[in-house]
Amino acid sequence: MGARASVRLGVNIDHVATVRNARGGVHPDPVRAAQLAKAAGADGITAHLREDRRHIRDTDMVRLKSEVALPLNFEMAATDEMVGIALRLRPHACCLVPERREERTTEGGLNCAGQAADLAPRIAALKEAGIRVSLFIAADPRQIEAAHALGADVIELHTGAWCDHRLADARIESDSEFRRLRSGAARARELGLEVHAGHGLDYETAELIAGLPQVAELNIGHFLVGEAIFDGLDTVVRRMRSHIAKGHARTLGHVA
Ligand code: PXP
Repeated sequence: MGARASVRLGVNIDHVATVRNARGGVHPDPVRAAQLAKAAGADGITAHLREDRRHIRDTDMVRLKSEVALPLNFEMAATDEMVGIALRLRPHACCLVPERREERTTEGGLNCAGQAADLAPRIAALKEAGIRVSLFIAADPRQIEAAHALGADVIELHTGAWCDHRLADARIESDSEFRRLRSGAARARELGLEVHAGHGLDYETAELIAGLPQVAELNIGHFLVGEAIFDGLDTVVRRMRSHIAKGHARTLGHVA
């Protein structure tokens, strides 16, 4: 078997839209940020069209699809409204996430084991249209097996709890979360699912998670947009790419 292709970086530009919306105008433009991320080496763009349109708006999705020459990963709740938008837009992929109005960000993984009956027809409609379907889930074997049974192409493992424990210096909890992520990634690959990961990642955690041999893609937003205030988006995307490459090289035994 040849060397595993490098881990892809999907840049989530939601929070460029958050800043834009704070003043209700058109600046900063998330599409311009996506084009800059592409020039800096991003492999894909992720955007979450939330039910309340708090950051990304419908017109942003249309422009991201038509003006940015990168695969578009459309993050969305599994609702009829969102499936209808996705079927018109035809993004490269849809990542189904749980969504609650009162949350600040996507707080937990999708309960695909408990909501299979709701999810199945929506996943089938997206797949029939040729859209890759990813399910954002916790690294829980029950959820991973349910995602597989539902016909998902990809699972995205929720790294939020692991990242939070690391930031809080809670070593025992963060080590145990990392073990869960590692065994979840292995189980998903056994089932033939492509494995992505995301939420709360920074340079350090992205490098570590890129070291799991099953991980094919990381989706990162908040940290990159925040760091871009200090270092510029071009620099932070390039720096993130190099951390991911370093983590990946470690799995191949190229770095001590
Ligand atoms: N992946 C998914 C499925 C998400 O919901 C989010 C947050 O929108 C991300 C990745 C990116 O998380 P963060 O903004 O914390 O990097």
